[in-house]
Amino acid sequence: MKKLLVLLLVSSTCFAVEPSLERQTELRLLLKNDCGACHGLLLQGGLGSPLQPQDLMRKSDIFLIETIENGRKGTAMPPWKPFITTSEISWLVNLLRHPN
Ligand code: HEC
Repeated sequence: MKKLLVLLLVSSTCFAVEPSLERQTELRLLLKNDCGACHGLLLQGGLGSPLQPQDLMRKSDIFLIETIENGRKGTAMPPWKPFITTSEISWLVNLLRHPN
């Protein structure tokens, strides 16, 4: 029993937990309004680079998550760490790869 509990604890910290449905709605809005302001309404690119699935195909999750968390020095890409957690960012990257 104790072993099972430890296993549950470990797995919930290792795998990104899905944000609540309410939070998912907020994150989708953020993507459209805030990210879209630079990356284009359809994320086709603008001031910021295009973020459609084919544009991200060759880029790793870690690279993209790091960019969103900390921004890119010397460019307009700001850090989002103060507003969204790493697991939310990882959910966003997955959404960018598989939009629906
Ligand atoms: C003020 C403008 C601005 C906003 C707002 C912004 N970005 Fe960016 N973003 C940029 C720019 C400019 C770059 C390109 C940086 C470079 O030249 O390397 C970039 C790069 C990126 C990249 C790396 C893409 C690649 O192909 O390497 C990702 C991922 C990204 N942004 C995601 C986001 C997300 C998600 C949001 C919203 C939470 C967001 N950005 C909001 C300007 C912005």
